[in-house]
Amino acid sequence: MEPEELLDFLSSRASVTRYTDEDLDREQIGTILEAGRWAPSAGNMQCWEFIVVEDKKIKEKLSMYSYNQSHIRKAPICIVVLGDEEKATRRFKERGKNLYMIQETAAAMQNMLLMAQSLDLGAAWVGAFKEEDVKDLLEIPENLRPLSMITVGYPRERPHASEKKRMVESTFVDTYGQRLHRLMEKREWKGLKTYFERFKEKIKREVGSD
Ligand SMILES: Cc1cc2nc3c(=O)[nH]c(=O)nc-3n(C[C@H](O)[C@H](O)[C@H](O)COP(=O)(O)O)c2cc1C
Repeated sequence: MEPEELLDFLSSRASVTRYTDEDLDREQIGTILEAGRWAPSAGNMQCWEFIVVEDKKIKEKLSMYSYNQSHIRKAPICIVVLGDEEKATRRFKERGKNLYMIQETAAAMQNMLLMAQSLDLGAAWVGAFKEEDVKDLLEIPENLRPLSMITVGYPRERPHASEKKRMVESTFVDTYGQRLHRLMEKREWKGLKTYFERFKEKIKREVGSD
């Protein structure tokens, strides 16, 4: 995939919370889970586990425990992402439990969101739920924490991507406070385009295509 294509793909992603009644097939679900397991993790710890919830009654309850977010019960599936606190602590002590576990499961979440989009499905990240209730409902062992969920289905509509902060608002150079625009004022996209052109040239040279 060309870098520009990837950027287009990333910037067209949007959370989808309205789904049709159509079910997903096994292969689609498997492909999404496969994307999740290729995420980076601390020392390749992979302290994630996943529960695919398809059962209507369980989804009803998940929705209830998520402050009645209706897309959880309406989605054909909801994948619950767990973090293994015990493993994370054993490997990396407090930092493993408080940070790496959260970060690596988030990386798996993002991989799955992107795969859902690439399959032309719609997906949304769900973080607002009562953890203890979800843990009891899904009979999750003590050492594991349900950290987030992802609802997936066929989109009823494809929302526009939401506004994001501009690069210059959130990026500094060398030290905090050195704004990027001091170096790249009004060249945010032009700068990227130039970079991609150079990148393409390099590939052409190396691969030897015209
Ligand atoms: C940590 C986290 C928690 C979130 N929790 C919820 C949630 O409980 N319900 C929901 O509908 N969306 C949730 N979202 C999705 C965000 O609302 C959404 O990503 C944000 O509004 C930006 O929109 P976009 O995904 O279309 O770019 C969550 C996202 C993140 C990263």
